[in-house]
Amino acid sequence: MVYFKGLLAGYWLFSAIHVSVFANEGATLIANIDDPEAIDAQTTCPGYKASNIKNTDSTFEATLSLAGYSCNVYGTDVDSLDFIVEYLQEDLAKVSITPTYLDSSNDSWFILPDYLVPPTKANKLNFKRSYVTQDENQITFGDAFSIEWSNEPSFQFKLKRVSNQDVIFDTFNSVLVFENQFIEFVTALPADYNIYGLGEHNLQSRLLENLTLTLYATDIPVPINSNLYGSHPFYLDTRYFELDDDGNHIPVARDRADQSKNYVSYSHGVFFRNTHGQEILTHTQRLTWRSLGGSIDLTFYLGPSQEEVTKSYQVNTVGLPAMQQYFTFGYHQCRFGYHDWSTMDDLVSNFEKAEIPLENVWNDIDYMKKFRDFTNDPVNFGYGEGKDFLNKLHDGGRHYIPIVDAAIYFPNPHDENDKYDTYTRGAADDVFLKNPDGSLYIGTVWPGNAVFPDWHSPKTGAFWANELVTWHEEIVFDGIWIDMNEPASFCVGSCGSHDRDMDHLRSPSTLLRGQSDGLQNYFGGSDPTNMTDSASEESAIGPSASSAFFLRSTPTPGVRNVNYPPYVINNVQGGHDLAAHTVSPNATHFDGIQEYDVHNIYGYQLLNATYYGLLEVNSAKRPFIIGRGTFAGSGKWAGHWGGDNWSTWANMFFSIPHALSFSLFGIPMFGVDTCGFNGNTNEELCSRWMQLSAFFPFYRNHNNINAVSQEPYRWASVTDASKTAMKIRYAILPYFYTLFHLAHTTGSTVMRALAWEFPNDPSLAGIDAQFLLGPSIMIIPVLEPQVDHVCAVFPGIQQGEVWYDWYNQTAISAQPGINTTISAPLGHIPVYLRGGSIIPTQEPALTVRDARNSEWSLIAALSSNGTASGQVYLDDGQSVNPESTLDVLFEATQHRFTISPQGDWKESNKLANITILGATLPVASAMNGYGVSVKADGRDLPPVSAIYDPNSHILYITKLQSMTPDGAFRKGIVLEW
Ligand code: GLC
Repeated sequence: MVYFKGLLAGYWLFSAIHVSVFANEGATLIANIDDPEAIDAQTTCPGYKASNIKNTDSTFEATLSLAGYSCNVYGTDVDSLDFIVEYLQEDLAKVSITPTYLDSSNDSWFILPDYLVPPTKANKLNFKRSYVTQDENQITFGDAFSIEWSNEPSFQFKLKRVSNQDVIFDTFNSVLVFENQFIEFVTALPADYNIYGLGEHNLQSRLLENLTLTLYATDIPVPINSNLYGSHPFYLDTRYFELDDDGNHIPVARDRADQSKNYVSYSHGVFFRNTHGQEILTHTQRLTWRSLGGSIDLTFYLGPSQEEVTKSYQVNTVGLPAMQQYFTFGYHQCRFGYHDWSTMDDLVSNFEKAEIPLENVWNDIDYMKKFRDFTNDPVNFGYGEGKDFLNKLHDGGRHYIPIVDAAIYFPNPHDENDKYDTYTRGAADDVFLKNPDGSLYIGTVWPGNAVFPDWHSPKTGAFWANELVTWHEEIVFDGIWIDMNEPASFCVGSCGSHDRDMDHLRSPSTLLRGQSDGLQNYFGGSDPTNMTDSASEESAIGPSASSAFFLRSTPTPGVRNVNYPPYVINNVQGGHDLAAHTVSPNATHFDGIQEYDVHNIYGYQLLNATYYGLLEVNSAKRPFIIGRGTFAGSGKWAGHWGGDNWSTWANMFFSIPHALSFSLFGIPMFGVDTCGFNGNTNEELCSRWMQLSAFFPFYRNHNNINAVSQEPYRWASVTDASKTAMKIRYAILPYFYTLFHLAHTTGSTVMRALAWEFPNDPSLAGIDAQFLLGPSIMIIPVLEPQVDHVCAVFPGIQQGEVWYDWYNQTAISAQPGINTTISAPLGHIPVYLRGGSIIPTQEPALTVRDARNSEWSLIAALSSNGTASGQVYLDDGQSVNPESTLDVLFEATQHRFTISPQGDWKESNKLANITILGATLPVASAMNGYGVSVKADGRDLPPVSAIYDPNSHILYITKLQSMTPDGAFRKGIVLEW
């Protein structure tokens, strides 16, 4: 192929080539990755050459100049780029590639401003000054990273971990493509790689080869492997090596399970700070990352453990997760279709009658007046009746969480009676997204025509906060469920902008009450509100109906086509159209930024505004928010639920990898619609699912309006199964709370993959069917129908790990690396306690308040060397800045138990029991039928208070209340026996 020199010549030749490709694409509507004729930028583009190379003791810089004629394959090539490597900290380096000349008069390149998404900051306090060693084409920073580069055939670089010379990022043998609407870089990966993250997807947590992972926030009922609600351009890469006798690291094949070998693993993380639509392709030994714009801003986290990577990602880049109020760990009941206050009242009584714990009741959009945010339907959800209901609910120690959608109803301007105060106030402050011509951007959501708060306007945060505050004066809610914040819109383009009084024709709200056929279509079948509807409409700003199928444009130098970019990502929505089912990419923000450039953070910004809005409602209480659309860093403000899943066994299974990936993303408050949202659940599935979700941080049962009811009291077996699992959940609430506090202060995870806790066992790298809660509790759920057992691995056995059955408190016998069959009839969920742990518990109860007001017990599960430790964190359970806190450390051996508190929070419930599992006491020395003599701080306790069972190896120390008359953990205690 011959190129003419110069941008324009190159462009015209190239567009001629394009014509043949694009001419018939209209009929096919295929994404680039599915188009066999799509041009491969790797074989077409020239790449760059580095010059002006300089370095300091913590940076390496070069200018990258296009190494040939522009290819302009999916946009306009940037001629000159600045390449900067910054060594930030022992475990942290950044690589950024940005256009050298930024012309503000030209909208061609978009550089993500720091105020929208803060960049990685090094924690300078930890930064030891580095030394740089420089060979030709290689620089080493400190003991951590080295970078090697080459200009042949074009600029390429490798980033290495110095300690073991492992290449963690490697663009050799690929070209860098940097255009205004298309960026592509490729890194080599080792054979049999284990990478995780790159969400949000409904997939197993270890990413398979040959996937196309699309990141473009969208509202879709969770198909397998399509883009979903959130965008998390972050991955964890874990590499396993066998250590040979000479200490050499030999890479091992995937899932190697020879337990006699000596393995080690090294993990690192990679974050791409970029808010555009993206596609990541996982090939054999290679990963290709594509974005529709922005710049390259990569952070590398060296670990070397998953825990260190995850902590560093949160501490240095996206922020630590919000601390939750204690009550949020109770059970949440929701559904679409609770249609009035008396239904809500009955709901609470039904739980009470069935004696199933219930902490939070939720309302979906049913409560709203015509589906308008911050309003209540005066007939079914009137304020007066609402106050009575909420007073009673709160008196019972329970809480109320209503939904708030992203879009704000746009009232019919020709109808005086259609006034809507929230809109009026927002319009007065001019806080809604615009079309490029400055007119209001009007889409369609549940209420009909709707506008979208523009989070870039300086007044929008205050507008949103004021709506929350004003509404809270009527409805005393305890948290907010944020939905449709991708944002979702049911038409393509600004359909209402030219059609302002037509909303009733298009609004799904007319389909809602009593017309479930329409909803069935929306949630289940073909979507009448999506492409069919919109393709026949002319959008005010989009293409005409006749051109609506031309979703791919030809590149024009210096000009971006944001609605139909030249590269078509595999967006799951109709025609892969970026505008389908969301706000159009050319919707324009207050600061002139187009939605195209920041689409993936719309939801993130709404969560941010809601967090600060809730602080206006009550500045003392930690905001509780569960949101659907998320971006890297949303965990600072909110938790997340998995969206509109299905009542299927597969969806129940996928809830585990979904949760584990959100652990990596720093959003530990995660759960899914238990028993399934779309479609009808059944007794067996709901029974298993209620038990599984009891071990997720966020535990909510939610259901679609047209599905059979699925509250746990609907079936006797589900009632029993739920109560069994909830007894454990409510007993271990202090453990949950402590894990959350650790997550909030250090970035550690709550739900954990086995591989993270046992990093030297390659056979665990792909396990999703079992998981850990914190370091100490392992859950082995049944994930398939019609079985009464489950096969599971017990990690660490080879190294002496002991696992105790939660129910009978005895150690299980399992072989290393071999599946053990465990009995698990319906109603039973296998739960194991890890030797070496001490778990603080309180009494299970029907509300968190009652559980928190009960006596304490401590369960010490001794390790094979006879020791255990654990901790608990306590405070008032709700304050943003608690006045007093308490950290208690527990330690146990075969003969001693130590309680060491630190802090001034005063716990008023007494300590009642300490149970030691795996105790091996000489029975001969026991008195009174295995009674054991125990001394507390040197004084004898009555012998009846300690009983040892030599068969189960359990020592029960009970009736300790007299030792802690004012409450547990007031002072340090040493028990000896
Ligand atoms: C969205 C939500 C779902 C909710 C429904 C109605 O589909 O994901 O949870 O029930 O809207 O508000």
